[in-house]
Amino acid sequence: MSEPGARDQNTILGRYDAVMMNAFGSPKRVFSHGEGIHLVDADGNRYVDLLAGIAVNSLGHNHAGVTAAITSQLSRLGHVSNFFATEGQVRLAERLAAAAGEGARVFFTNSGTEANEAAFKVTRLTGRTHIVAMEGSFHGRTMGALAVTHTPKYREPFEPLPGHVEFVRFGDVDALRGAVNDKTAAVLVEPIQGENGILPLPAGYLAEARRITRDAGALLWVDEVQTGIGRCGELLLHRADGVTADLVTVAKGLGNGFPVGACIAVRDAAMLLQPGNHGSTFGGNPVAAAAANAVLDELEAGVLDNVRQVGDWFAAAVEGLRHPLIDHVRGRGLLRGIVLGADIGPAVVDAALAAGWVINAPRSNVLRIAPPLIITQGELQPFVDALPQLLESARG
Ligand SMILES: Cc1ncc(COP(=O)(O)O)c(C=O)c1O
Repeated sequence: MSEPGARDQNTILGRYDAVMMNAFGSPKRVFSHGEGIHLVDADGNRYVDLLAGIAVNSLGHNHAGVTAAITSQLSRLGHVSNFFATEGQVRLAERLAAAAGEGARVFFTNSGTEANEAAFKVTRLTGRTHIVAMEGSFHGRTMGALAVTHTPKYREPFEPLPGHVEFVRFGDVDALRGAVNDKTAAVLVEPIQGENGILPLPAGYLAEARRITRDAGALLWVDEVQTGIGRCGELLLHRADGVTADLVTVAKGLGNGFPVGACIAVRDAAMLLQPGNHGSTFGGNPVAAAAANAVLDELEAGVLDNVRQVGDWFAAAVEGLRHPLIDHVRGRGLLRGIVLGADIGPAVVDAALAAGWVINAPRSNVLRIAPPLIITQGELQPFVDALPQLLESARG
């Protein structure tokens, strides 16, 4: 609950603007608490959270199992550093490694960016430096993760970035084949480009990328920070295509809001990192591991099935509206992009927020719907019903 006298959102937002660096612009709400798929702001207004902190709160807010796991771990042991191990950390590594493929090993981080930074360093240990990444990609904001991120406005103020990165057209196998050579350390790709408007790879691309990288002696590095850990109905989405990557990065949904990420390396790539090459004070922290193990327990206990069923239903229901402003719905599971026929995404986001729905627009013509993975069809139906009105009010 809020402190007495601190409930007024405008007061808190004024304090925010005075003290926070302006990295994110001014926030639109101050949230005080949440429960399941709901959020409550500092003035007591209630919202349905269809964004889940950008694909993070997999099990919703204030999840009893995650809270119990975190508090129980914290009451026993909160941190030990990577000079030492904890059983929960090892168990989490075993589970993530099993998901990525035989012979996988794990390096823990606190975020997706750091998972990619670790993977980038692993690629350098191949003795090669050329990286092939994708146009439209997003991999994070540290200098290494930024070097493989395509968006010019994110990159340009910080150049020169770590070099030898070449960008090719997303989803274009011929372009990939033309770019990869015997100097290529790795090909980096997201199964669905989340920040680029929930843009999926064409079917068969990953299998081709696997063939091309194997032939060139290069690593295949799949960024599953947004798509992984159940978000798309699979623990790791690329595995559903029968592909085993050499490097896989995850974060976001793994801790249900507790910061935890991982760089997973498979077989030969798993042996590249040696003592002294990389490190992290907090990575693999026992509390983060407890949160992540609790999330994986729930995903395995039926949440993945819910994601597939509700996600498919939602896409069909939105397309079934046959609204002139809705072009189509893309994505998988509960990572969905509603592609609009006009650049009204930001206005729809504002109209939705005013009406009690939290969504966002990664591109001006795409709405991102990434709710907690526990959401039901019954809980999403009111949003589908409200969508035509939200679109029309945004069109003005
Ligand atoms: C595909 C992908 N990779 C990496 C990141 C960066 O993760 P984080 O913000 O946890 O550092 C993101 C964040 O949006 C992402 O979507």
